[in-house]
Amino acid sequence: SSNGSIRNEKTLAMIKPDGLFGNYTDRIKNVILESGFIIFKEKVVQLDEGSAASFYAEHSTRSFFSSLVKYMTSGPVLVMVLEKENAVADWRTLIGPTDARKAKISHPHSIRALCGLDSEKNCVHGSDSTQSAEREISFFFKEVSTGGVVTEHDEL
Ligand code: TYD
Ligand code: MG
Repeated sequence: SSNGSIRNEKTLAMIKPDGLFGNYTDRIKNVILESGFIIFKEKVVQLDEGSAASFYAEHSTRSFFSSLVKYMTSGPVLVMVLEKENAVADWRTLIGPTDARKAKISHPHSIRALCGLDSEKNCVHGSDSTQSAEREISFFFKEVSTGGVVTEHDEL
């Protein structure tokens, strides 16, 4: 269809090491499915230093970078390609603000309020734009194409 790429917008979601260790996966997946997303792809990955640094390359000059890389490599993460209309913005809304301490106050029903600790250990990731989603999905799932107007759905 002509608006297939809108109906089927994709975003990259990740449950970070603390989210997996803390057994939040089922609760987070329930929120995802109840909110109308399809989990198009998922896999568990153990990031090494190089891949964590590359994933967060835009933050490489920030003071928190080395600590962030250490946290992101402290255990496995679950990466998921989520699909629905307006997936990028809607997933960002569901996860809440970066700093989980602020999320607990201003967005108490957000996922980061549920399982995050602070501005580093915030338990989940979400792409911040459709361009970021495209880069981040190909980072983990080389076979998933999100670029252009044609989606897998259109080809059916
Ligand atoms: P950022 O892209 O600003 O936040 P978001 O995850 O909401 O898109 O930052 C990326 C990650 O960097 C963030 O999830 C956790 C880490 N981080 C820190 O450790 N300390 C900080 O002060 C900030 C802003 C981010
Ligand atoms: Mg970000």
